[in-house]
Amino acid sequence: MVVSSRMPISREEEEALNDYFLDNSYVEGFVTSQADATLFDLFIVTPSQDLYNLHRWYKHIASFGSDRLKFPSLKRNCVTLSVNGIKLKMVNKNEEEINGQEGVEQQQLSEDIVDPWNVQASSNKGIDYDKLIDRFGSSRIDDALLERFEKITNQKPHHFMRRGIFFSHREMHKILNFVEAGKKFFLYTGRGPSSESMHLGHLIPFIMTKWLQDVFDVPLVIQLTDDEKYLWKDLKLEHCNKLAYENAKDIISVGFDINKTFIFSDVDLMGGAFYKNVLKVQKHVTFNQVRGIFGFDESSNIGKIMFPAIQAVPCFSSSFPFIFGEKKDIPCLIPCAIDQDPYFRMTRDVAPRLGFQKPALLHSTFFPALQGAMSKMSSSDENSSIFLTDTANQIKKKINKYAFSGGKDTLEEHREKGGDCEVDVSYMYLRFFLEDEIRLEEIHQQYSSGAMLTGELKNELIQILQKMIFDHQARRKAVTDDIVKQYMTPRPLNFSIRKQ
Ligand code: TYM
Repeated sequence: MVVSSRMPISREEEEALNDYFLDNSYVEGFVTSQADATLFDLFIVTPSQDLYNLHRWYKHIASFGSDRLKFPSLKRNCVTLSVNGIKLKMVNKNEEEINGQEGVEQQQLSEDIVDPWNVQASSNKGIDYDKLIDRFGSSRIDDALLERFEKITNQKPHHFMRRGIFFSHREMHKILNFVEAGKKFFLYTGRGPSSESMHLGHLIPFIMTKWLQDVFDVPLVIQLTDDEKYLWKDLKLEHCNKLAYENAKDIISVGFDINKTFIFSDVDLMGGAFYKNVLKVQKHVTFNQVRGIFGFDESSNIGKIMFPAIQAVPCFSSSFPFIFGEKKDIPCLIPCAIDQDPYFRMTRDVAPRLGFQKPALLHSTFFPALQGAMSKMSSSDENSSIFLTDTANQIKKKINKYAFSGGKDTLEEHREKGGDCEVDVSYMYLRFFLEDEIRLEEIHQQYSSGAMLTGELKNELIQILQKMIFDHQARRKAVTDDIVKQYMTPRPLNFSIRKQ
């Protein structure tokens, strides 16, 4: 690989790169590549902290250490960063130079990366969720838990749970003990409003939460972290706050019970009992702890360093006196994807020291990017995502063009050897959204045997997604500003708590 740029990188170029990394996690968009490693090596010193986005990118790449040499090769033959008229051009000289020798299998990261800001698998099979359970110290959702769940609720567990899409938990048995004893808990989940439109991946925890609310008939709080997005992104605070209200419409469209659901923007709610709990958490968590959990350093703005306390406190019922009154110890269950777990590891650590209950969690796997299970669907790469605002035609085009196929190269080979459902993104998406077990099994069997072609599989998915998103858009249209205001007004919710 050669890098044709003047060296060392000038301040002007650094500024241009800083702008570039505002919207891009990496040089090639949303996954690391050799372009990142090459660019990184051009820096003689760490970029200045005032170039926040570039600095963040640099520190992040530095954290890989020598593993950056194992980043995948450039996907495109040439990457040109052209920002403010300045060009940094990176070219694949030839594959030999990248891989050492021709034909050598591309080397990968040695470990999956999963945190609230980065999700990247080290293998093209996707994240190794078993390893993640070991690393994070959570528990697998096993048959025993599913059976107990069914016995207590009298409901077949949601297909997300039966299919291992929600795969891990913390203390779900404790929640079930509570339910068995006829007591109530509450649900808590959230969204960081960084874009007008949410994507299909964002829907997963909300669909699960809605189902849990229906099954257990419990109150729910939904946090919109407009403050978080302001602190992490180069967005105006007023804009983040506006996005919170826009995203609330999508969330409401999932169908949450208005009498049992409180949605709030941090910016608008902060104060009173909520802020008192934020302060308590802040006083009991040190910089060393958040540095260890989140990787903050001296260059992180101080808003970020205290933010985890804000994501923690909705776990405590005393943060919402207008809902829970004097009850300070109602247990909380959080459905979310596992990228949010670091916040709640911190919360579970600090809760007993404050006399609060530790929250329980249900973790989901990631809804993959169209390009494959190596990374999650993410708003930062438009082509990786299907948005809730996409038209039927856009959905069709994206699936047909980008959805990574496990089919074979030629018709003959496909008919003979069959497709690989393990890596086929369209099949993975069907596992999330095709509820009919029999049809899903049929598709698996027909695709794996070669009887079904990639185009046919994609067609089936396109129809399901088009209908799903069309229905969502119709429901969203009916969500008026007044309805949003009702969900977002601090008020008592309709549920009764027995003595507990
Ligand atoms: P955010 O906005 O990044 O994501 C919102 C929710 O969607 C999950 N998620 C995904 N799930 C499956 N597949 C994906 N590709 C995917 N991408 C995102 C996230 O795990 C999250 O559950 N800081 C949070 C907001 C928040 C929150 C919470 C989330 C505040 N309190 C409590 C969960 C629970 C955020 O920025 O989420």
